[in-house]
Amino acid sequence: MQSLDFSAYRNIVVLTGAGVSAASGIQPFRGQGGLWKDINPFVVADVSVLETNPLSIWQLFGKLRTQLETAQPNAAHLTLAKLEAQLSASQKFTLITQNIDGLHQRAGSLNVIELHGNVNYTRCSNHTCSLTSYLDKYSHQELLPICQLCNSPLRLDIVLFGEQIPVKQEWLVKQSLRDCDLFIAIGTSGTVWPAANFVRSAHYVGARTIFINLEPMKPQNPYFQEEYLGLAEELLPLLFNYEY
Ligand code: OAD
Repeated sequence: MQSLDFSAYRNIVVLTGAGVSAASGIQPFRGQGGLWKDINPFVVADVSVLETNPLSIWQLFGKLRTQLETAQPNAAHLTLAKLEAQLSASQKFTLITQNIDGLHQRAGSLNVIELHGNVNYTRCSNHTCSLTSYLDKYSHQELLPICQLCNSPLRLDIVLFGEQIPVKQEWLVKQSLRDCDLFIAIGTSGTVWPAANFVRSAHYVGARTIFINLEPMKPQNPYFQEEYLGLAEELLPLLFNYEY
């Protein structure tokens, strides 16, 4: 397998999904062993559940906090962090992730856009409350946590189905895609919007577009020019020419 020559690109954008964290023991959503295999995310992870059964959202995602106490970034995370560190000052690198586990930052990645939030953070469910999002080690599996400022339920600082991507993240993504010349999507089923559509913008501005995943995208996305199938933690070090 020929490794990629990153020196030829000025604005590299990488999009990652749950497959990148699979080797760290974090369960993906789709594909083999996916969280959504036996449950419907549009029912259990919809924003409306914050009204009807907010504790169930903590029970669904909050346990990830416990897993993350021992989970470690794997070779895929580390390779992406190393790539960013080794680029020249004139090259821009943006890592857009749909993952909520914070493992990219723990691996050393700096310019990370968390599209779906971060499960390690808690915020108030009341939009008018002044409580700022904070790092919270508790997984709140038994008792619904309540905001001390306004008495509303606290919630995970993640994006649920039916919710908008935070405007800052959306803006940063658009900015990075506008003049991107290399776009690589890794470990994502490509089924969730808006991320599923980013490759289209990248292709529109003339970027080289690459898809790296365990299995082919279904249905195939015509905006990807190249596809590498395999485990991200194995393929990335080979393609990026790094050894661990
Ligand atoms: P998915 O779980 O939908 O897709 C993960 C993809 O990674 C699948 O195609 C797997 O085959 C592949 N995969 C699994 N292990 C892999 C490995 N070791 N190396 C490479 N690929 C591997 O995850 P996302 O596309 O990230 O949203 O899902 C998008 C969003 O759907 C998530 O952010 C989440 C979910 O519902 C919210 O919670 C809002």
